[in-house]
Amino acid sequence: MSRPRILSGIQPTSESFHIGNYFGALRHWVALQDDNDAFYCVVDLHAITVPVDPVLQRERTRVSYAQLVAAGIDPQRSTLFVQSDVPAHSQLGWVMMCLTGYGEASRMTQFKDKTAKGGAGSASVGLFTYPCLQAADILLYQAAAVPVGEDQRQHLELTRDLAERFNNRFAQTFVVPEPYIVKDTAKILDLQDPSAKMSKSVPAGCVFMLDTPKQITKKIKSAVTDSETEVRYDPQNKPGVSNLISILAAATERTVADVEAEFGGGMYGPLKVAAAEAVVAVAEPFAARTRELLDDPAELDRLMDNGGQRAREAAQPTVDAVYSAMGLQAGRV
Ligand code: TRP
Repeated sequence: MSRPRILSGIQPTSESFHIGNYFGALRHWVALQDDNDAFYCVVDLHAITVPVDPVLQRERTRVSYAQLVAAGIDPQRSTLFVQSDVPAHSQLGWVMMCLTGYGEASRMTQFKDKTAKGGAGSASVGLFTYPCLQAADILLYQAAAVPVGEDQRQHLELTRDLAERFNNRFAQTFVVPEPYIVKDTAKILDLQDPSAKMSKSVPAGCVFMLDTPKQITKKIKSAVTDSETEVRYDPQNKPGVSNLISILAAATERTVADVEAEFGGGMYGPLKVAAAEAVVAVAEPFAARTRELLDDPAELDRLMDNGGQRAREAAQPTVDAVYSAMGLQAGRV
């Protein structure tokens, strides 16, 4: 019996993933390997939509790949690869840009959010067409489902529209993918400002998976709470404390209700200690495994090359079919 094909991607924009990435995405990717033919991609072409130093870029791609393996993605069972190793992403990306309306792209809220501060004028055209490349990532592999967070829903809708548009206008070529939005996923908030999502751009409120146990403990113990003293899960009125409950629940794979039953009514100190210990217990072996992989560059290269090779083989038939259906010279039959 063939397993459903799924695909997801993550940007190599940091030297370490944070616990929001891990609990919100990576852990689900690992679980999904069992029943799906999973393709997971480190999207380095997406990362250059903003200016980045080449040395850092290379480093971040390797560290990201190593962390995905450390998280438990099995490079044998799943196809784990780096986007720029597969030229077909750029090839289909261009086709998707030509299929996307300017107005349609202008409605993407993520682009609007990302350029809200500096203005769209100083953003790259690549940042504007980012969702077209993302559509190519997905459609190339004929993915049936795409595990992503709620923030990617609009990009997924665009991907579906583009697939249907191509299928109607040219030839039945693409599987129209379903979003797979993990609902029960813990939304991890900034420890210093629990009105915002945890983000690498605010390191003080962000626990990185590769932080030392000391750093992790310090950050969690200094988390902002509130002027009351009693633990209660109430995201509206007690976002800081509720966030700590969510973190502890995620790190110990318990429900929020379960953690609240244990710590509710108590003081903040014990909750913080428990949360810090639980996160350290997850992050420490993760960091050790990541370091092990980074210390063996030849093995890491081998894994990346192998993933790239498998992904190229899976992607090529789609590019051939697309080029042929559109009457492009390279796709002549
Ligand atoms: N845009 C996604 C994010 O920021 C990353 C991504 C790129 C992606 N290509 C993808 C996710 C394809 C799913 C499928 O999280």
